[in-house]
Amino acid sequence: ATKKLAYGVNTIKFSARSPARGSFVVIRRWFNYMRPVNVGVIGLGTVGAGTVDLLSRNSAEIARRAGRNIRVTQAAVRDMSRSRDCQVSDIDLTDDPTAITTNPEIDVVLELMGGEDEAYEVVSTALRNGKHVVTANKALVATRGNELFEQASQAGLVIAFEAAVAGGIPVIKVVRESLAGNKIDGLAGILNGTCNFILTQIHEQGLDYDAVLAEAQRLGYAEADPFFDVGGVDAAHKLTILASIAFGIPLDFSSVYIEGIEQLRYQDIIYADELGYRIKHLGIARSDNGHLDLRVHPCLVEKDQLLANVSGVMNAVRIRGDAVGDSLLYGAGAGAKPTASAVVGDLVDVVRTLTSDPGNRVPHLAFQPHQLADPKMRPITEISCAHYLRLTVRDRPGVLADVTRILGERHVSIRVISQKGFGDEQGVVPVVIVTHDAKEADIADATKMIETLEAN
Ligand code: NAP
Ligand code: HSE
Repeated sequence: ATKKLAYGVNTIKFSARSPARGSFVVIRRWFNYMRPVNVGVIGLGTVGAGTVDLLSRNSAEIARRAGRNIRVTQAAVRDMSRSRDCQVSDIDLTDDPTAITTNPEIDVVLELMGGEDEAYEVVSTALRNGKHVVTANKALVATRGNELFEQASQAGLVIAFEAAVAGGIPVIKVVRESLAGNKIDGLAGILNGTCNFILTQIHEQGLDYDAVLAEAQRLGYAEADPFFDVGGVDAAHKLTILASIAFGIPLDFSSVYIEGIEQLRYQDIIYADELGYRIKHLGIARSDNGHLDLRVHPCLVEKDQLLANVSGVMNAVRIRGDAVGDSLLYGAGAGAKPTASAVVGDLVDVVRTLTSDPGNRVPHLAFQPHQLADPKMRPITEISCAHYLRLTVRDRPGVLADVTRILGERHVSIRVISQKGFGDEQGVVPVVIVTHDAKEADIADATKMIETLEAN
């Protein structure tokens, strides 16, 4: 082996400007090139175990793509006694993440533990110790990404986060790199697999909300705190990240309007169906005359649209660019294997960048850090769109007249109005109204007035 190494050095050494220095650099590069990349994984839950398993199952294919062997040498968990869904016999297991983030033998840290404050410390410590980071943690990127990217850039390191948005769909790479020639006008997507799974199962199987949520948790789709899913927070984290790379703005989670799916009832799904729509929980980002609006809420989507037909845990993101037009990316939005696919894709990218000049890498948020814009955010009250309202009213003369008068006085025009049934034993009946485009502020005001009317 020693002899072979000397031949390799000789061939290149004579082409270097300074033979003595050149040979040293070449030897070091050559050694680095041949050495496997050592990876430390923080978290061996759904995503961590899925990633370790994928790295071992497809190791030869992955090495052929990355140009180096990749091996997981160390992993951190909370409970060392728990069995894992991956082979851990060759891995040095610890319950202390800093044992990995400060280990000089580790080249790349995979942060797959979730949460915000502790994960921030893990990533920041890894960067301070010269390690590239791959994370699936959208909460962390959306809320603390600006600071972490700044720290990484200062250190010439990479934080890769494809798995943070839409599970296995390579949407970060597409928006950041493949669509780099476009001005992005907007995007809309089903960004939370758990919400889409719940809405689909309730609609198609008539199952109970709590039972479907429990099933999503069992399948590893839901966040540690499932309120993040059903309350719309997880989708808002993902929209924050997508908006940054689409529009070239700093990450700003606080500017996203958030509604979850907890207020939806089975009958809303059925009434929407009768009107020709599916209810989907969407993240929407629009750029309009220098203003941006970012929102996450349930939406009525016409049944013949592609987004309306994205079912179960699948996600889809529709992106509108001025050159490409509409593009739709579709795939599994959560779960061990799809998310591991995104983590490993990022890891291979990071391994490839180990040999490239930091100044010429793809910027974290797609645009050069000093070129990020500061557009005006349009508040939800100023946004106009059609609305679906389900009212519970007394079935007596004059009630609908009162309701339509209140809407009319607030410039809300009705497209469809439909009373559902003949009222229960108290004479109470649901009425569904679909409006033309109306300002959110007018709808909110009218809703408040109608609720007062009911109380009287
Ligand atoms: P998970 O199943 O709850 O796994 C979390 C792992 O982190 C567990 O192995 C846990 O150890 C470990 N951990 C937590 N705190 C730790 C600490 N202080 N020290 C050491 N280990 C610690 O979560 P997950 O579903 O894999 O999600 C992980 C991340 O990926 C989250 O940021 C999530 O948002 C993101 N993500 C998840 C999915 C998905 O489909 N699940 C998809 C995309 C992105 P124990 O096992 O010992 O408790
Ligand atoms: N809990 C998330 C979801 C995981 O259901 O979409 C994927 O990010």
